[in-house]
Amino acid sequence: MLTQTERGGAESIDWMASLTYRSEAAPVPSATELESLIAEARGRNHNVGITGMLLYDSGRYLQTLEGPPDAVERLWSAIKRDPRHGQIELLSQHIVPSRLFSGWDMQLYDRRGGNDQRAPAVKKASISLVDHVPATARFALDGDDGKLNALIADLIAQGWVGDALVRHLLEPTARALGDAWLADDCCEVDLTIALSMLQLAGHAVHSRPADSIRQSRYSILLVTAPGEPHMLGSSLLSDVFGNAGWSVDIAFPDTDESLARQLLAQRPDAVDIALSEALPRHHALVRLRDTIEKCRAASPDEMLVVSVGGRLFAEAAATARSVGADHARLSAAGTSVPLAKLIEQRRTRS
Ligand SMILES: Cc1cc2nc3c(=O)[nH]c(=O)nc-3n(C[C@H](O)[C@H](O)[C@H](O)COP(=O)(O)O)c2cc1C
Repeated sequence: MLTQTERGGAESIDWMASLTYRSEAAPVPSATELESLIAEARGRNHNVGITGMLLYDSGRYLQTLEGPPDAVERLWSAIKRDPRHGQIELLSQHIVPSRLFSGWDMQLYDRRGGNDQRAPAVKKASISLVDHVPATARFALDGDDGKLNALIADLIAQGWVGDALVRHLLEPTARALGDAWLADDCCEVDLTIALSMLQLAGHAVHSRPADSIRQSRYSILLVTAPGEPHMLGSSLLSDVFGNAGWSVDIAFPDTDESLARQLLAQRPDAVDIALSEALPRHHALVRLRDTIEKCRAASPDEMLVVSVGGRLFAEAAATARSVGADHARLSAAGTSVPLAKLIEQRRTRS
């Protein structure tokens, strides 16, 4: 359970789930309808310990829910079924050590002249960060590292931190590039070059040490799934885990056997096996399940935590369970936290 109290740290932390999505109102609500939606939401949220904010702007919603993981999961299921909106897009889902919106059962920012001036800059800006995806994809496809670097430098100067840039800009851009390739708007070489440019941008966004929750004593082996040519996910993770203080090794094994040999030699606490961040190749899942089975059989450490990632997982087209992994990441950003928890839980149980 994600809500368990952290052991082994200097302080106790109750982990919260945090989920952000955007959607389009259907139909556009009147001020009264919006107020009654929020009034009911507040009452229910209060009863189940959920806090957050709902931004309404020109027919579009952006909402962050935070609270106990089970409660957030239940509410998220109800919200996805709600006919009052559509085009629902999950932007991020992770666990956090504390609430950003504590004290707000659900704060409404109605930008039709309501109280939007009180909206925290970070949340308003998260819309604009996603809006940079088309330009970032263009610069990467054009091989224009000057413009790409200038854009990233500008966003860092505006106060954006590495995790947000990875989650809301670089990974969505990789998916946009994958769509361009699927639509025949670019060739495979263009895609590969563009993904490498994002990889370099990933190093740049993490050039300053992030605020890690703790210096970890864990080790992780980051690998691309055998046969997977795209390495953006592993590359982004190496910065994320390195900044969080983990001991990190990265490898690109070409067979399951060479991955198994690496595990035997290094005995990491966790292994992350990455599929493409750009392309949703469903057929890769059967192979991945097989790879994971072999890893577990070969690993000297039965407590090995196996994590998986890539576009199929980010878009929830596959789950950890469907391939026999312990964890599936929706983003490289923030992954060190749930993996540290899984490792800790296994050690405590043993
Ligand atoms: C944009 C939007 C945001 C919502 N936010 C919440 C919320 O924060 N809390 C809540 O209880 N319901 C919220 N709702 C309503 C839920 O979708 C759902 O109607 C409500 O939880 C009752 O679900 P149930 O009928 O399955 O019990 C929201 C609906 C919309 C359209």
